[in-house]
Amino acid sequence: MNRIPPALGHLIPTTLAFFTPQSGGSPNANSIDSLYKVVLYVALVIFVLVEAALAYALWRFRARKGAVAAQIRGNTRLEIGWTLGAAVILLALAILTFVKLGSIQDPVNSGPEGANLTSDSGAPLYASADRKLPPNGKSLEIKVVGRQFVWEYVYPGANEPDGLGAPYSYEQMVVPTDTTVTLDIVSADVVHSWWIPQLGGKFQAVPGYHNYTWFKIEKPGVYRGQCALICGRGHARMIASVKAVPPAQFEAWLANQKQLIAEANAAAQASRAKLKGQIGAGQVENP
Ligand code: CUA
Repeated sequence: MNRIPPALGHLIPTTLAFFTPQSGGSPNANSIDSLYKVVLYVALVIFVLVEAALAYALWRFRARKGAVAAQIRGNTRLEIGWTLGAAVILLALAILTFVKLGSIQDPVNSGPEGANLTSDSGAPLYASADRKLPPNGKSLEIKVVGRQFVWEYVYPGANEPDGLGAPYSYEQMVVPTDTTVTLDIVSADVVHSWWIPQLGGKFQAVPGYHNYTWFKIEKPGVYRGQCALICGRGHARMIASVKAVPPAQFEAWLANQKQLIAEANAAAQASRAKLKGQIGAGQVENP
């Protein structure tokens, strides 16, 4: 047997990658991709067999002078055969899907190189409540807020129980590597759709409703996505990215973010106080 020529050997996976889901960022995205490929390969084999049989029949039994077509009226054995065959394939794919579903939906534990998911005080910094958690119950919970027209991310670390003082960022989410990140997806206005293809499936951000998903990124890198549901004039600008950095770098970034927000709040408060002092003649709206 001849081996597949190198150029063709490269062409096949490249072509298939175009038709299969993006993956490589997170275990759940990889599970979606591998499940998709199993179904695709089975479908491809059936497609090739059916088309080959059709092409053969077209050629073999084409119209010829003097040829009389055989008149066939049903074939019970064949019909039962392909009905059973199709049913068995369908059942096998359904069973495989349900078996694989857990690895897509259920978060896994963070790895040994992941962030330490407890605060200095010993209290669980990254706790979650009414959603799927990793077996050990620990994940970094980030709130994803869809809003016309920017994604906002709220990280753990609020100063007060009502969530005030929590560090946040826009457009780019920063996360620690080898750490299971669970997302609590909400919307501030209309329906948006959170989607970073390499990190798993789409999840809608619906006003008044919470959707949950997760990912775990092994290596540092940036994963890009885009709001995947038309949500208004600025929909095309509603891009998103997830930047994975080593845990120590994440802690430093989070602390810095908190600091910057506190400084900006203090500056705003000072401006407000200054404005208040300008009541009367000479008051300006935008000093
Ligand atoms: Cu938000 Cu489209």
